[in-house]
Amino acid sequence: MGQILKASPEAIRLAAERLKAGGLVAFPTETVYGLGANAFNEEAVARIFAVKQRPLFDPLIVHLASQQDLPVVAEEIPEVVGRLTAIFWPGPLTLLLRKKSSLPDIVTAGLPTVAVRLPRNEVALALIKECGFPLAAPSANSFGRPSPTSPQHVLEDLGEEIDLILDGGETAVGVESTVLDLTCQPPVILRPGGVSREALEEVLGTVRLVSEEDLPRSPGQLRRHYAPRAEVLLYQGKTREAVIAAMQSKLRELRQGGHRVGLLVGEGDLARFSEEGMVVESLGNSLDEAARRLFSALRALEKQGVEFILALAPPRQGIGLAVFDRLLRAAGSKLIEVKDGT
Ligand code: TXA
Ligand code: MG
Repeated sequence: MGQILKASPEAIRLAAERLKAGGLVAFPTETVYGLGANAFNEEAVARIFAVKQRPLFDPLIVHLASQQDLPVVAEEIPEVVGRLTAIFWPGPLTLLLRKKSSLPDIVTAGLPTVAVRLPRNEVALALIKECGFPLAAPSANSFGRPSPTSPQHVLEDLGEEIDLILDGGETAVGVESTVLDLTCQPPVILRPGGVSREALEEVLGTVRLVSEEDLPRSPGQLRRHYAPRAEVLLYQGKTREAVIAAMQSKLRELRQGGHRVGLLVGEGDLARFSEEGMVVESLGNSLDEAARRLFSALRALEKQGVEFILALAPPRQGIGLAVFDRLLRAAGSKLIEVKDGT
């Protein structure tokens, strides 16, 4: 139990054996680590929910190794799927389609739709191929924790409970896949992720972003999905200067109150926060880097026992939208809007 194995061909064969026997295996994808089970083995899928302490109303994503296998889990596949998969598969785009009735209901939490994706990761693809069945896999974290971007994160959360962790190093994208609902017109992004809204709109025309009102359509998108042990304060404003000034003053106030404070900002802004005694995690120099580092930075700040995390909202463009979304959820959907000059 809790064994981490470098993802060699033998390790992948062993992992497939465990999965064939109804076991649970954590494996790398290009986004985050997934906790996989045979999608057609109800008992194994039920264990995923138990191990993660995930509510049964929150459906899982089904992972394929080949687009040809789509009809195994989905039906009434619309024409647009071919255009999307030609561009974005393998990759961080999850498509919501009509579910095949032979797929156990527990996978989709009883919904008539199934979320499907083809990951862009050699280990994941080799594993699914070796299994010969699709893998139902949520992110391999305990419910309410940041998604795991390294095998160590999986070990921290679920180590004792699962059969094996395949080590494929740190994940390339760092935030989860974009979940796109194709059962409505225009299509709706239920969760922003590794494929940007702009890229989807180039193919599809207008794409809507899920709003608070239709949240129940995306059972996993709880307002406070990731509840860190620290309180996250997320800042946004018209000018960077004003936002940084507001953050600096909050930082002073908290430090004077004797609080341990963590900071999550881009590399370029680090020098602006030179106060001693706070814990800093850099989100790097680009939105791609911010996506890659976000979850492990949150875990690192928690480990250092901070009570507050001050973060600067990234621009909501490209993958920045996904980073913003995760930060906003970490902040319990509260955004601190800084007015100019105050
Ligand atoms: O990048 C990813 O998507 C990762 C890797 C492992 O593939 N997986 C992942 O799974 O993030 P999970 O379970 O943590 O998030 C799946 C999201 C949830 O928000 C869930 O509610 C939504 O997809 N989802 C799955 N099936 C759905 C369905 N039939 N209808 C609406 N939302 C669905
Ligand atoms: Mg998750």
